[in-house]
Amino acid sequence: MSVREEFDDWASEGRDRGMEDRHWHTAKHVLARMPVEEGDTVFDLGTGSGYALRALRETKGADRGYGLDGSPEMVRNARSYTDDPSISFLLADFDSLPLATDSVDHAFSMEAFYYASDPHHTLSELARIVRPGGTFFCAVNYYEENVHSHEWQERISVEMTRWSCSEYREAFREAGFHVAEQDNVPDREVEIPDESAFPTDDWEDRDEMVERYRTYGTLLTVGVVP
Ligand SMILES: C[S@@+](CC[C@H](N)C(=O)[O-])C[C@H]1O[C@@H](n2cnc3c(N)ncnc32)[C@H](O)[C@@H]1O
Repeated sequence: MSVREEFDDWASEGRDRGMEDRHWHTAKHVLARMPVEEGDTVFDLGTGSGYALRALRETKGADRGYGLDGSPEMVRNARSYTDDPSISFLLADFDSLPLATDSVDHAFSMEAFYYASDPHHTLSELARIVRPGGTFFCAVNYYEENVHSHEWQERISVEMTRWSCSEYREAFREAGFHVAEQDNVPDREVEIPDESAFPTDDWEDRDEMVERYRTYGTLLTVGVVP
């Protein structure tokens, strides 16, 4: 199944809004840390419902937002959730970003980057479109150290790249970014039941669930274009 088929299905089932709700727990902290200033142009790779651009416009005064997604249904939904003329959605693949060199001040991506068929090439595309001094805030929940995420590949037909924290840093540097920081953003909002509720349908024991959400949470890697 292609990216288009897989995620068109998700969008038509309303899973774009479901992802927004779940990802917002950590994405909002990542967005708050972005050094976006009034008048800036921002880019969201794998935008889904487009919530990140709406938030950056509302909270930081970004002037222009471009959200890219390869699923026509996701793009159609994202367009329907805002009437802001300064937010545009681009139907395109991560392989070739349809934006000019140095045209973006800051880029963001949540739970999307690892679907790139050639993640090294996508990183070099990001390094191309972000202007010198601009940043790429890359947030993922699927990565090597988060052992609880490994089984996700079995549930999705699109191939996912599972890098470790150090592989992210190395790939960012190879693509021409400086790595400004890397850390875990905990999800403190998922409710973790009392010990007596375990095992649940999803979790053998409480410690595993605590590790998944409170310890691993979302891996954030921040690249800066020199
Ligand atoms: C898991 S969703 C995350 C959406 C959103 N960032 C969020 O936090 O809810 C991944 C998104 O990336 C898009 N996507 C995945 N692979 C892609 C590719 N190779 N090119 C373009 N879009 C892609 C999907 O269509 C989907 O909307």
